[in-house]
Amino acid sequence: MIATTGSDEAARQPGTNEGWSSRSAFILAAVGSAVGLGNMWRFPAEAGANGGGAFVLFYILCVVLIGLPVLLSETLIGRHGQASAPESVRRMAAESGKSRHWDALASIGVLGAFIVLSFYCVVGGWVLYYVGAFAQDLVTTGLTGGAFQGRPAEEVEALLPGLFGNGGLMVALQVVFLLITLYFVARGVSGGIEFVATWLMPAFFILFLAITVYGAFTGGFAEAVTYLFSFEPERLTGPVMLAAVGQAFFSLSLGVAGMITYGSYVGRDVNLAGTSTIIAGADTAVALIAGLCIFPIVFAAGLEPNAGPALMFQSLPRAFQDMPVGSLIGLLFFVMVFFAALTSSVSLLEAPTAWVKDKFEMSRVAATMCVSAGALLLGALAALSFNTLEAWHPLDGMSLFADMGVFDILDTVTSKVLMPIGAILTSIFVGWIASRRLIDAENGLNGGLHKFWLFLVRWLCPLALTAILLVGIFPSLTD
Ligand code: PFF
Repeated sequence: MIATTGSDEAARQPGTNEGWSSRSAFILAAVGSAVGLGNMWRFPAEAGANGGGAFVLFYILCVVLIGLPVLLSETLIGRHGQASAPESVRRMAAESGKSRHWDALASIGVLGAFIVLSFYCVVGGWVLYYVGAFAQDLVTTGLTGGAFQGRPAEEVEALLPGLFGNGGLMVALQVVFLLITLYFVARGVSGGIEFVATWLMPAFFILFLAITVYGAFTGGFAEAVTYLFSFEPERLTGPVMLAAVGQAFFSLSLGVAGMITYGSYVGRDVNLAGTSTIIAGADTAVALIAGLCIFPIVFAAGLEPNAGPALMFQSLPRAFQDMPVGSLIGLLFFVMVFFAALTSSVSLLEAPTAWVKDKFEMSRVAATMCVSAGALLLGALAALSFNTLEAWHPLDGMSLFADMGVFDILDTVTSKVLMPIGAILTSIFVGWIASRRLIDAENGLNGGLHKFWLFLVRWLCPLALTAILLVGIFPSLTD
């Protein structure tokens, strides 16, 4: 039976002791899921690669008009069902007198979360490598001068290719990152996931603000603001819009069952519209501030803003070379990114774990281990695609995946296929299939806002997302 009171008990999944201990714990965990490598690594890279202002402004529009309504839809499905993502959808469908097969939307999501987890841990491993490199540098050179003193810039930029050249080390770091994630997920919702979020997210925000303020005084701040917020309409091309929508999804953790799962641990007294707004607002603020944190440093060092994924791992360490106390700033920066990545990876592991636990009636620890073992194998293939498997392009026959190694295939299949499909089905399910009575009881909206949300979920989200999916799979449509 589903609890309907506003007490703490209501936050527990029936038959288990799982649930957030408070509303703020849920908000911190969900913000922790949203804020991660997507904000610190992917957002500046995408903004830089897509020309800055037009991308950023369209991204903000996508968050408000598509991301936020889908986020509310996902959390309300989870809160209503109080079970793993597919089971939550099944319950809502059954109570609405509709086919239980709508649970496919969450099954696709669970698969998506598993795939993102596998390659996310690989990048998490790179972050650990940089934490180690800066820590070692701090110990050897101390606080005076910049990072990696006496070493030419090319050598610092070569750290990343150097890591890619060592497949064994890359897999080892990926495993370490995965084991840390596993440890907290195995400890459960309030004892592990919530613990990570409540300690690491505040620590993250303190470090983040300190580095941003520091960035503001490095000289390139005004240039960065102009770059990120000057709107040049001619730059808003189809591919730029597609990149912006995809980034909004990745960043808000949507379309892969993660937010349905986190919603299932929420008590009935929590207003989901309010919490969704806080989560989306915080995530977007961090992405924008990350841009304002990274680009001034890059500009001040006279580096190119369009270095793509290399921006965080190559340009920034190079910029830390020219800074006073550069080793310490660099170390703090990568520790902060590690915190953000960990609070996201726990949510990526939690979604499939909750499903395995429900489906096979396993203990949490056993379920966590099974999912992690699978993610380790797939992730190792992704890691090795920068190394021994570099020339292996297994899906060359399909144009969407042409010339891609395993890492890029996994990234593409999630952001361009599974996430949009999951979110289209979610908005159709909530907008058209589920009973209005159930939806209205959960969403915490009324009046004009409620009507507007319903309009977005019924019309704008499915239509806009279908367009994105088509353009993602058939890029020639935008030519
Ligand atoms: N939102 C995370 C980030 O920006 O790094 C990535 C992510 C986490 C995607 C959880 C999906 C998810 F379910």
